[in-house]
Amino acid sequence: MQSTSIVIGASGALASACINAIEALDDGSQIIAISRRKLSSTAHADVRYWQCDNSELGIEECVNDLKEIDGHIDRVIICNGRLHDDGIKPEKRLEDIKADALFSIMQSNALTPLLWIKALTPLLKSSQPCVMAVFSARIGSISDNHLGGWYSYRMSKAALNMGIRTAAIEYGRRAKNVRLMAFHPGTTDSPLSRPFQTSVPEGKLFSPAFVAESLITLMQNTASSLDHSAAEATFIDWEHKTIPW
Ligand SMILES: NC(=O)c1ccc[n+]([C@@H]2O[C@H](COP(=O)([O-])OP(=O)(O)OC[C@H]3O[C@@H](n4cnc5c(N)ncnc54)[C@H](OP(=O)(O)O)[C@@H]3O)[C@@H](O)[C@H]2O)c1
Repeated sequence: MQSTSIVIGASGALASACINAIEALDDGSQIIAISRRKLSSTAHADVRYWQCDNSELGIEECVNDLKEIDGHIDRVIICNGRLHDDGIKPEKRLEDIKADALFSIMQSNALTPLLWIKALTPLLKSSQPCVMAVFSARIGSISDNHLGGWYSYRMSKAALNMGIRTAAIEYGRRAKNVRLMAFHPGTTDSPLSRPFQTSVPEGKLFSPAFVAESLITLMQNTASSLDHSAAEATFIDWEHKTIPW
């Protein structure tokens, strides 16, 4: 059965690098890349680009279309995440919090990935291993929060992490072939980090290609050691080091 990789939030820098890294494996896996934007296959000839508005209904319709594809889903990468946007800046202090901005960041960073996990679940249960990686961030670690600030982004990634951990517990009962990970890429050169790159120490700003290769290697290793027993989700970084929740 043909293996299938699904990349969600496909227009981003890290998503695009993950698509390149999967293509470079040259393992015959078909790639379906899903984005809010209408993307073309110019950069990746073998990738099928689908558009989805990330509404609950839009996600369900997209997943219904996925039921028709021939092949087993063995890799899912969910990339959605925003730190800033038109009119949205990470908050330095409590007075900067704006309800609309906070809701909007929670929606794209925590709720959207969880809705995808929910909708994909019936398609993932199989005798074959499936590894699902969701881009999180170390800043979402509750126990590792020593700096404060960035309320909306921090809260959204903490909420995302809780969703991932909780889903993994359920998969332990319903889909033991699936492994879930919250992945921290490190500070990576992308539109998301661009306004904040001046304070990054020398050598600590990674290229999307470097991070994507690290993630795909991690996913390959996880799949090959998967033993179909219930397992907790992992919160793990670009060096494959565990992060405390
Ligand atoms: N770059 C870093 O330093 C860094 C550090 C830690 C964690 N991360 C995480 O890594 C992931 C990828 O980030 P990136 O650096 O590749 O950033 P990016 O190039 O700015 O990509 C943005 C991502 O967010 C999605 N997105 C944008 N607006 C959205 C909205 N309104 N609703 C839902 N999704 C939306 C995009 O998907 P569409 O294709 O659907 O637009 C795309 O996947 C994010 O989850 C980010 O939080 C990045």
